[in-house]
Amino acid sequence: MDVVLLLIMAAAGLSTVSSHAQRQYHFVSEAKTMSEAQRYCREKHTDLATVDSMEVVELLNNTAGQFKQSAWIGLYDDRDTWRWSMSDPSFYGPGETEFRRWYPGQPYNKHNIPCTLFYPDRTWHDGDCNKRLKVLCFDVTGQSATFVLIESKMTWTEAQSYCREHHTDLASVRNETENQQIVELLPAGYYYWMGLYRDSWKWSDGSNSSFKYWADNEPKLSALKVCVAAAFDNFGKWEDLDCGVEKPFICYGPVVPVSMKVIKVSVEKPNGVDLNDPAFLDAMLVEAKKNLRAQGLDDNVQLAWRKQPDGKVFHKEEEKKRDEL
Ligand SMILES: *[C@@H]1O[C@H](CO)[C@@H](O)[C@H](O)[C@H]1NC(C)=O
Ligand SMILES: *[C@@H]1O[C@H](CO)[C@@H](O)[C@H](O)[C@H]1NC(C)=O
Ligand SMILES: *[C@@H]1O[C@H](CO)[C@@H](O)[C@H](O)[C@H]1NC(C)=O
Repeated sequence: MDVVLLLIMAAAGLSTVSSHAQRQYHFVSEAKTMSEAQRYCREKHTDLATVDSMEVVELLNNTAGQFKQSAWIGLYDDRDTWRWSMSDPSFYGPGETEFRRWYPGQPYNKHNIPCTLFYPDRTWHDGDCNKRLKVLCFDVTGQSATFVLIESKMTWTEAQSYCREHHTDLASVRNETENQQIVELLPAGYYYWMGLYRDSWKWSDGSNSSFKYWADNEPKLSALKVCVAAAFDNFGKWEDLDCGVEKPFICYGPVVPVSMKVIKVSVEKPNGVDLNDPAFLDAMLVEAKKNLRAQGLDDNVQLAWRKQPDGKVFHKEEEKKRDEL
């Protein structure tokens, strides 16, 4: 005897809509490295998820549901990008923002040393921004720079504020001529803060949110290249991992209306099987998903059995037809 069951395909699938940001989040269960996941999200949606508030944390946490693994979000430690405190592009000639005079073997690019100090032997060292050091500011008029030494000691951030208030900014160094000018100015034996720094934590989509939701004892920063995953066995809190690890991930994109499609599935009733047994239905659903995925069904499509008003999924063909009349 043939029986009928209805399979609901919801096109927005395993995804949720954030009320404040007009964003829809998509879980992708296929494990990928962070950069592969980033490429996938940019192709299919907008980007890897930016988690910028508790609302989004809760949203993802609730949607994760039975998904108790950790998944990449869009946060990573951008250790290689050094930039100048004085960011006006018109001040720099071609290639001059890239001029560097690192001490051999530096920068170490360690997470906790994202600021740069100038040593009178003419080389640059990366260091801990909380150190209190003397300061190298500069005054800029058009294309020309005049370097100024500040002998009182402060942290890098204090130095930046000080220079911006009393001069133009912390000093940039555009070429060898300027590096030499500074060397001639500096007394021997002291380090000076200069304007080169690294702002490490970056969102894949360029968002400037500073919101963080680290788990206890995170970030560990133990890998060479560090990316961030939300752990759904720990309230969606964040942990840092080697970017090359393959993990499921979460993308976001614009809100798209959910479309539903109902597929009718007929099966021949095997002897002695209760077709409305939940375990049997679960097994069938897994099988159906596998088949549909093999036929190119999108990751974000969710499948569920549709229950009839009497709470049963399967109905005899004749009964179904009667229902529709
Ligand atoms: C995350 O979900 C769990 C249940 O899965 C709940 O106990 C917890 O309070 C949620 N946390 C947040 C921040 O929403
Ligand atoms: C360095 O830059 C300054 C200012 O633009 C310029 O006057 C000088 O000629 C440059 N020196 C070199 C070696 O490029
Ligand atoms: C972040 O960007 C927004 C607009 O894109 C800007 O209004 C805000 O000042 C920025 N915040 C920081 C901390 O840079």
